[in-house]
Amino acid sequence: MTARDFIDTQDLTKDEILDIVHLGLSLKKCVAVGYFPPLLHGRTLGMIFEQSSTRTRVSFETAMSQLGGHAQYLAPGQIQLGGHESIEDTARVLSRLVDVIMARVARHQTVVDLARYATVPVLNGMSDYNHPTQEIGDLITMVEHLPRGKRLEDCKVVFVGDATQVCASLMMITTKMGMEFVQLGPEGFQLRDELQQIGQQNCVVSGGSMFVTDDPHTALEGADFVYTDVWYGDYEAELGEAERLAAFMPKYQVNAELMAIASPAAKFMHCLPATRGEEVTDDVLDGDHSIAFDEAGNRLTAQRALLVYFLRPELSNPIKVDAAKAELETLLAGIL
Ligand code: CP
Repeated sequence: MTARDFIDTQDLTKDEILDIVHLGLSLKKCVAVGYFPPLLHGRTLGMIFEQSSTRTRVSFETAMSQLGGHAQYLAPGQIQLGGHESIEDTARVLSRLVDVIMARVARHQTVVDLARYATVPVLNGMSDYNHPTQEIGDLITMVEHLPRGKRLEDCKVVFVGDATQVCASLMMITTKMGMEFVQLGPEGFQLRDELQQIGQQNCVVSGGSMFVTDDPHTALEGADFVYTDVWYGDYEAELGEAERLAAFMPKYQVNAELMAIASPAAKFMHCLPATRGEEVTDDVLDGDHSIAFDEAGNRLTAQRALLVYFLRPELSNPIKVDAAKAELETLLAGIL
């Protein structure tokens, strides 16, 4: 491996994750006042999508253009990957044509292999195992909506529903940050033992805690953030719908009754897209406690930070970003 990749939040330390979060917040402030630091000027992102996407695709493409770079959408059937060209050769070729690769893949091993053979950074845009870029955006959203007087480490995050890759990733990042994580879900749809072991190991280091339960009161009492995802792990899979609904409905639907068990100020989160009326009701998703759409907006906050962090490691410290910004402003003042 000749470049540092972002395949799993487990590959980063708590401090590195916080650096990315703070870098994202600094860049968000710059953009909010109309300053678009050209930190990725002349750089190109190749975006491989084996599956459909709204948030991941648009946020990466917007992030590249806002920071002075360019993104190429490499859709199924438009590149040779998946045909007779191997992952190894695709990685070697793209490394000579673009500066960074982002891939949304059906099988996790595909993005691992891309990273192994690419000589440019590879960012995981979701696999069947995890969704790490989602989790950076989620953490940024939680930082922006911290309950009054609480630190991240004081917060309880409850994921309600199926043990999707988003559930697994949320568990991994919250336990790494020293937070309390709970999955509320029916037996047969709970995090696998090996995933729970990763979370427990994180907790030993971070001081966080985690457990899995099928009891709503045990799970939700004192929750600061209530999170859910669709009741099927793969958007495009044809899974037995009636069987899924029977497993989750009505006990695991996030509705007003379930939210009432959590802290009065608890926020509702969803990675989206939502299946309204299934895992979440309209009144919760559209209600005052929902931060799900701010969370979607923070996919862009996260992608800006991740792109700068992995493409410009020398600038990944927010203090250095501020210094770079000051230098650019001085240069501009001399020209204008
Ligand atoms: N949450 C998420 O990854 O959305 P997309 O599938 O639209 O990218």
